[in-house]
Amino acid sequence: MTERELVDLYIKFFQSKGHKNITGASIIPENDSTILFTPAGMQPLVPYLLGEKHPQGDRLVDVQKCIRTGDIEEVGDATHLTFFRMLGNWSLGGYFKKEAIQWSWEFLTGKQWLGFNPEKISVTVFAGEGDIPADEEAAKIWLEVGVPEERIYSFGMKDNWWGPTGATGPCGPDTEMFFDTGKEPCGDLCKPGCSCGKYFEVWNDVFMEYRKTETGTYEPLAQKNVDTGMGVERTVAMLGGCSTVYEIGVFVPLSKRIRELAGTTETTKSEKVISDHIRSATHILGDDQGVTPSNVDQGYVLRRLIRLTIRHGMKLNIPKGFLGELSSIVIEAEGQEYPELIRNKALILDELEREEKLFGETLIAGMKQFNKMLPNLLKNPNKVIAGRLAFKLYDTFGFPVELTADLAAENGMTIDIDGYNKAFEKHRELSKKGADKKFKGGLADNSEMVTKLHTVTHLLHAALRKVLGDSVQQKGSNITAERLRFDFLFGEKMTDEQKKQVEELVNKAINDKVSVEVQEMSPDQAERLGALGFFKDKYGDVVKVYTIGEYSIEICGGPHVENTSELGRFRIASEKSSSRGVRRIKAVID
Ligand code: ALA
Repeated sequence: MTERELVDLYIKFFQSKGHKNITGASIIPENDSTILFTPAGMQPLVPYLLGEKHPQGDRLVDVQKCIRTGDIEEVGDATHLTFFRMLGNWSLGGYFKKEAIQWSWEFLTGKQWLGFNPEKISVTVFAGEGDIPADEEAAKIWLEVGVPEERIYSFGMKDNWWGPTGATGPCGPDTEMFFDTGKEPCGDLCKPGCSCGKYFEVWNDVFMEYRKTETGTYEPLAQKNVDTGMGVERTVAMLGGCSTVYEIGVFVPLSKRIRELAGTTETTKSEKVISDHIRSATHILGDDQGVTPSNVDQGYVLRRLIRLTIRHGMKLNIPKGFLGELSSIVIEAEGQEYPELIRNKALILDELEREEKLFGETLIAGMKQFNKMLPNLLKNPNKVIAGRLAFKLYDTFGFPVELTADLAAENGMTIDIDGYNKAFEKHRELSKKGADKKFKGGLADNSEMVTKLHTVTHLLHAALRKVLGDSVQQKGSNITAERLRFDFLFGEKMTDEQKKQVEELVNKAINDKVSVEVQEMSPDQAERLGALGFFKDKYGDVVKVYTIGEYSIEICGGPHVENTSELGRFRIASEKSSSRGVRRIKAVID
């Protein structure tokens, strides 16, 4: 089965159970600054899991592109990828454990669906922990569908609990389904969840019935939801009897070309890392809300992925300038499913080339610095380079520690890697503290301020079009409790006068105390009404349209305030370029 076939089958199955397909959200979270990338299909649904009404109803299905860099060190093993796709079905306060489990079982074992041998499937359920009771209901339903007791395992929060993705938000106990590959158990303790490769996790049904609060407690949600996730690459690899995810789809032509470039027939870990990272980088750059390499936030993650790709290319002796060619293979293989990759191809290739060149310069600068330090280093009788020096090379010149280690070895030295790691950790803790502070708030905890800034964003969007013309289009939006950020297509820097006009228009709407109305309708009807909405291919057959008096009419999922009088005074804090042809405004309400 190909990835496309699996996706189609899954969506067809859940459509037959009354679910609406909502595929199409970005990998860069919109209006949510609590995380950098979408790590799971549920992320774009956070407001709806917390009770906001979804225009497509309470049964949803999709395939979502996801980025997870938490396990970046594991990339190159059998299953870990930084970019992957997740299939999911949701119930927003509708059906619950019984239907979710029955349908999972039907899809996994049904002959016209995946047709797994039922005897090869084991499941795990939540054993209870702290104040939260064991999920006896899930275990009972598994028994009823026909899984025998000896293949139903119970574990605590570490294994059978999911979420929240930010510091706060929806979460709950889960039940996971595993396929037994038939391999010998690695020992007496080998059970589903063991990493030896005997059990392959295929699916996770999360029962989102709690919300983690700011104080770290779990409070029951008024609305009980189902959130499920099935990894596309993993499942296809397993259905095809492959031993790793690198044997399917885009990875086949990628690996082949990497081996050719490296002049080898051998499969290496570097080859897998390159394949994974170039694919992720291509999707991050190619997303319509895409970001470009930088030293902060998503741009930093992207830069790191690209630099690691180059590093591993060097390890395999691949000649410089290979990123564009490999990225083109990804665009070719996945552009049909993700047309944004084709639309943004020039930008993707440009940015990769630029970054490759920049990194080359970084390496030269780092090498020079190293050579300058060398005579002194050689005086050290132990022939050990202090960790803090290696860290300085990394921190100040972007010079990767592996390269310092290589150069050290060439000169008969080693580096104090523990010391390096300590310096690195300390630095990371400090920047994490900064980041935590920065990411406080956000849509995940649905704070009042975020809702206000969301409404202000609509007013800003409308005002920008009035002042700068209709060529202005939203490219991205990101809101924290402190500020809104709005990216839009426009070729020039705004003048002070234009900024003033925009501020005045928004403040007029606020002073006029206009009520914010919401209506549901078809996308066509919304278009006829003149509602703004630039993400057409993402809409289903019903959309929500928010109208703010004469000021703004826009397609949006919400939430919003009820009246502009709740908003306070609007002020543009900065306006600058975010990438070519795109301006970025940060604004606040005082
Ligand atoms: N959100 C759940 C997961 O990612 C389904 O595993």
